[in-house]
Amino acid sequence: MEGLDSLVRDCEGRGQACSLKELDEIRIEFLGRKGKLAQSMSLLGKLDNSDKPAAGKKANEVKTFITDLLDKWQAGLLAAEKSQTLERFDPTMPGRKPWAGSLHPVTLVMDEICEVLTGLGFEHAAGPEVENDWHNFEALNIPPEHPARDMQDTLYVSDKIVLRTHTSGMQIRSMLGRKPPLAIIAPGKVYRRDSDLTHTPMFHQIEGLLVDTNVSMADLRGTLTVFVRQLFGQGTEVRFRPSFFPFTEPSAEVDISCVMCGGKGEIHGETCRVCKGTGWVEILGCGMIDPNVFKSVGYDSELYTGFAFGLGVERVAMLKYGIGDLRMFFENDVRFLEQFA
Ligand code: DAH
Repeated sequence: MEGLDSLVRDCEGRGQACSLKELDEIRIEFLGRKGKLAQSMSLLGKLDNSDKPAAGKKANEVKTFITDLLDKWQAGLLAAEKSQTLERFDPTMPGRKPWAGSLHPVTLVMDEICEVLTGLGFEHAAGPEVENDWHNFEALNIPPEHPARDMQDTLYVSDKIVLRTHTSGMQIRSMLGRKPPLAIIAPGKVYRRDSDLTHTPMFHQIEGLLVDTNVSMADLRGTLTVFVRQLFGQGTEVRFRPSFFPFTEPSAEVDISCVMCGGKGEIHGETCRVCKGTGWVEILGCGMIDPNVFKSVGYDSELYTGFAFGLGVERVAMLKYGIGDLRMFFENDVRFLEQFA
């Protein structure tokens, strides 16, 4: 009995526990499985039977008392800790601005281009990035020995399956099983085995295709001129330069007056970095659909004519926003990305 009483005094005397950790240690010391109370209680068995009930009762009382005492200390310590953190809270400090997300510049430009083109009546089409040889090459008048199929450019999944190297395969997918007139755009990711300062293994293109009776090169020029001026501003000069693509004949590349120097080729007497002094920058490839492509999809090239064009989205984004380094688009540096919010 005396042992139990002294246990209470002993514990009360520890009233200085100044941390929750210390309190835990005290709890273990007194109430733990091998603690002081447990030790006292193990002596109970040695008492006379007549003394056991009173001693057992006492032991229980002591246990309750110590438990309550420690709980009370704990509540005190928790309250103190809380008030300490509250003291450190300065309500006059300016709040932290929540970060607002924003669209990626490639997405922004892609959306804008699609908006202009759907505004002109083009319909949106989507297709697979893993493409077969026929859609990506053969049906587009690119025969097996053509340099465009060189292993250096194409990422092969297997012998006859590739990661699409351009969105032009969507011309074929859109025409198959459908009759003209049709006007579609197909935006999406394309892949090439190429990686340096100005090339990334994945980038984005937008393909355009229009087929009808009596479509002429004048329609192509008119459509692309309207498109480019909506995208880069009404004052933009446009020129068509003869070029070659297997799936168009004739083919052309479209240049616009340099967005950086306004076509002057220099800024404050220095050669413009963007157009390298020429005053022009290339933005897309285009042409009249080659009769061989119509043959692939079963269109009568005596009856129908059409045009196609393809442009690189990253390239347009670089010109529109004055971004000098292609890698910016893929590094996802928040300081870069948040400028487009
Ligand atoms: N597919 C071409 C490329 O990836 C771009 C292109 C050029 C698309 C001319 C066309 C076109 O539709 O008519 O370089």
